[in-house]
Amino acid sequence: MKYNFDEVVSRAGRGQAKWEPFMLENLFGAPDLLSFWVADMDFQVPPPVVDALVEAAQHGRIGYTGLDPAFFAAYLGWVKRRHNWDAKQEWFRYTPGVVPAINLLLLAMTEEGDEILIQRPVYYPFTNSIEKQHRTVHNAPLIYKDGAYSIDFEELERKASSPKCTAFVMSNPHNPVGRVFTEEELRKIGDICLKHNVFMISDEIHYDLIMPGHEHFVYARLGEEYAKNCAVLHAPSKSFNLAGLQLSCIMIPDEGVRAKFDAIQLRYGITSPNYFAPVAARTAWNEGEDWLEACLAYIYENYKYIKDFCAKTWGDKAIVADLEGTYLCWIDFNKICSDKDKLEACMRKQAKVALDEGYIFGPEGVGFERINLACPKSLIVELMDRMAKAIQETFGA
Ligand SMILES: Cc1ncc(COP(=O)(O)O)c(C=O)c1O
Repeated sequence: MKYNFDEVVSRAGRGQAKWEPFMLENLFGAPDLLSFWVADMDFQVPPPVVDALVEAAQHGRIGYTGLDPAFFAAYLGWVKRRHNWDAKQEWFRYTPGVVPAINLLLLAMTEEGDEILIQRPVYYPFTNSIEKQHRTVHNAPLIYKDGAYSIDFEELERKASSPKCTAFVMSNPHNPVGRVFTEEELRKIGDICLKHNVFMISDEIHYDLIMPGHEHFVYARLGEEYAKNCAVLHAPSKSFNLAGLQLSCIMIPDEGVRAKFDAIQLRYGITSPNYFAPVAARTAWNEGEDWLEACLAYIYENYKYIKDFCAKTWGDKAIVADLEGTYLCWIDFNKICSDKDKLEACMRKQAKVALDEGYIFGPEGVGFERINLACPKSLIVELMDRMAKAIQETFGA
């Protein structure tokens, strides 16, 4: 194999959130848990990215940074090649992250007290952003039936039609349920948003993490009218494990929306990225495609291992959601335990693993566990063994 995704390398002692003992202690109550929570990868980034960062560090002048034509060419080339999207450079705005961008967009496009649509169970910082900006969460939950998730369009339209509903923060691919919405689904969503004047904040941070048989459709590709009513949020962070460099690509096709966004960005002085981020991003887009393909194949094997393991161990008592996109595996343990505190204690205290508990994504996630698959397979094997033993001891299942 060209890339060694099997290699286990300690990440502790380097201030890396996922494995830092003090973080694990603070968040999960013990410093030495096996860790599968926050969404970054344990894998080394593509080798050309390491080389480019070393070269940039050795140059040694780490002054203010601007995004140059080479950076834009790399990003625009990437979205054209991988996603068939003809995006324009003038649409681009920099932010250090997708979550900061959601906050800025809420400020730019909505008013205090407005209702903001989300689809729970969903990435919990959406709720934080909405509430911290003094807006109200307007939840149109996904339908969960026979272990599969779909969109309740009637409920979505009902919520969107409220006069106070002004924006929709959508996770696509959806974290944590792993759905990749189809063009048809997106068009229905887009039509509802246009009809009721709801601005679409399309968080597509997982857009490159697409599993066999599925395709990501960039929201703005629906057509000009839809594009002018949205912001598309991309980043190299999930795709190439660059979250620590803090750069995201906020694409705003409409000039008027851009003007509002720019005013907010100026208010908070968010202007230029750090020196290393564009170096890494540009190199990843230009030279990292082969690595990404290999990485996705590896992640999918980890997913299949878990799916098989769950079927053999618990039969239909543990339901593993289909993984269409993201590297996050979503498992329903409700038939074994639907008490969130008992399930959490079983994972943390018995199994000694750090997972994102389903309930943090909303009440619809109670009884679920989310597992980050982007790690060496040996860790996944160890995780499942620990979980099986702990669940057996705690719940007799
Ligand atoms: C759906 C979604 N949006 C945003 C983020 C984080 O974005 P950032 O670190 O760029 O703020 C994550 C990270 O897990 C995510 O899953």
